[in-house]
Amino acid sequence: MTGYWEREGLLERILAALAAAGKNVDALTVEDLAEADHFHGGGKPATDRLARRAAFSPGTRVLDVGGGLGGPARTLAVEHGCHVTVVDLTESYVRTGRALTERLELSDRVTHRVGDALALDVPPGSFDAVWTQNSGMNIANKERLYAGFARALRPGGRLVTQEPMAGPVQPIVYPVMWARDATASFLRSPDEMRTVMERSGFRVQVWDDLTEVPGPAMTQASAPRLIMGDALDAIVAAQQRNRAERRIVMIQAVLERLP
Ligand SMILES: C[S@@+](CC[C@H](N)C(=O)[O-])C[C@H]1O[C@@H](n2cnc3c(N)ncnc32)[C@H](O)[C@@H]1O
Repeated sequence: MTGYWEREGLLERILAALAAAGKNVDALTVEDLAEADHFHGGGKPATDRLARRAAFSPGTRVLDVGGGLGGPARTLAVEHGCHVTVVDLTESYVRTGRALTERLELSDRVTHRVGDALALDVPPGSFDAVWTQNSGMNIANKERLYAGFARALRPGGRLVTQEPMAGPVQPIVYPVMWARDATASFLRSPDEMRTVMERSGFRVQVWDDLTEVPGPAMTQASAPRLIMGDALDAIVAAQQRNRAERRIVMIQAVLERLP
């Protein structure tokens, strides 16, 4: 799967795009970086919304699974006082994310490492929150995924998630951001996802359907454009249809890990 996501030269591309957009790349802030490092359709506004729903207190230990370039992680660190460990399968995103975190002098609060969401190498019960945003779509074994999240959390810890899920109308239209065709896409319906999460030891606190909420316009400096290149145009067209016809729904949820 990493072959689909890997990109070389990403840091240089991000910095060049931000410079072209008039940003001072030698004094970047989380806000400056936002369009280029939140790699999901809703951009930073969706990250901000989910973080508000989670209402993190300062010092919260967060494991960001599938954290990509680290835009959400840096936002949680700077704007909510969290300490974030980012795990992602894609080595070039981890490298780029770490370089951006160093540039913003946040390495004491955000760390990046390569890892698989299905085999999280963290001590049991060592996190207050698992944050995972648009990262489980390639994963068929949701039972194992959510069991791993529960294991990483202390009792009372929370799973904070944003996921595209299968809508009432099927099949979905390809290409989507995470797959060219059905062989790499594993969406389940909101009811099925909720059931898996509950069976994994979670209780739902927040379950919001954001399918109708429009994302920010994609610019030349947006992460999806920088990563997907010209392939993004067909992805955006399919995404509009998938959402309008409710083939894909977008859910944000916060769940508590039961003792
Ligand atoms: C659409 S991006 C979202 C990145 C980030 N969460 C964000 O919102 O900016 C999907 C991410 O999931 C990661 N991913 C896919 N399968 C994974 C797995 N099994 N373990 C860890 N990361 C995975 C990809 O490498 C990619 O970074």
